[in-house]
Amino acid sequence: MNLSFKTGEELILFLVLVTLIIFAVVILFVVFGIFHALKQIDAVRSGKINEVFSFDTWWKGLTGAVPLEKEEVILLNHNYDGIRELDNHLPPWWKYLFYATIVFAIFYLLDYHVWYSSPNQETEYLNEISFAEKQIEEYQAKNANSIDENSVKLLVSDAKVLAKGKEIFTGKCVACHGAAGEGGVGPNLTDEFWIHGGTIGSIFKTIKNGVPEKGMIAWKATLKPNEMQDVSNYIASLAGTNPPNGKAPQGVKVVADSTATK
Ligand code: HEC
Repeated sequence: MNLSFKTGEELILFLVLVTLIIFAVVILFVVFGIFHALKQIDAVRSGKINEVFSFDTWWKGLTGAVPLEKEEVILLNHNYDGIRELDNHLPPWWKYLFYATIVFAIFYLLDYHVWYSSPNQETEYLNEISFAEKQIEEYQAKNANSIDENSVKLLVSDAKVLAKGKEIFTGKCVACHGAAGEGGVGPNLTDEFWIHGGTIGSIFKTIKNGVPEKGMIAWKATLKPNEMQDVSNYIASLAGTNPPNGKAPQGVKVVADSTATK
């Protein structure tokens, strides 16, 4: 059983369930107790027994012990220099607990190996991993807002970043910069010439603030900082790809980040 709780709700749910189970067991005992007491009262009335509750009878029922006076009944035949052996019953409390473990084991087996309704070790491990990954993502998302042109990272070798960047580029930028970044209304993003600088920080800054008077939109209202980082890296990764129909260079020649030995 895995008793680590990932959220407060899980812990509360667990405690509620445990309370319900304890409650059900208590009710069961009370109901049985009442029935038993009624039976005992009847037995006292009809003179079968003397008292409604006797500790001795209760204890005997629990242990199934043979009274001292009758021990010869369970005395075994062998005799080793006066040492004799009693063949006592298994105490009922123990026996029923043992039966209960067998019943439990059957359900446990079905649960884990036939119905697969509870996670086995491997699934549990995978669950933990995906939970941790989600936490990392949340952490990154929370910290993503602090990315700016000074802290933006060059991540051109991170396939995940590039994939996300490409998605954004395809969705929002191709209309002006071309499907491969070859340029159109906007400049060619694959050459070494940049109007506003070709370092990752400059690219980020251009995307963030745009060049409204020249038709380049400021994306800070639409894209989150980490998305701008992704698309900046995607653009940096396009350096030197030399797509067909590339727009003539604009701006000054700069060594882009992806080729720089930073
Ligand atoms: C409506 C057309 C348009 C769209 C859409 C557009 N851009 Fe631009 N972009 C331009 C224009 C025009 C320029 C050139 C600005 C200038 O001449 O100063 C430019 C310049 C840039 C530059 C600077 C290039 C340089 O040489 O310094 C980058 C980087 C850039 N865009 C990235 C993007 C990204 C990323 C997107 C999508 C999120 C995008 N652009 C969407 C029109 C667009």
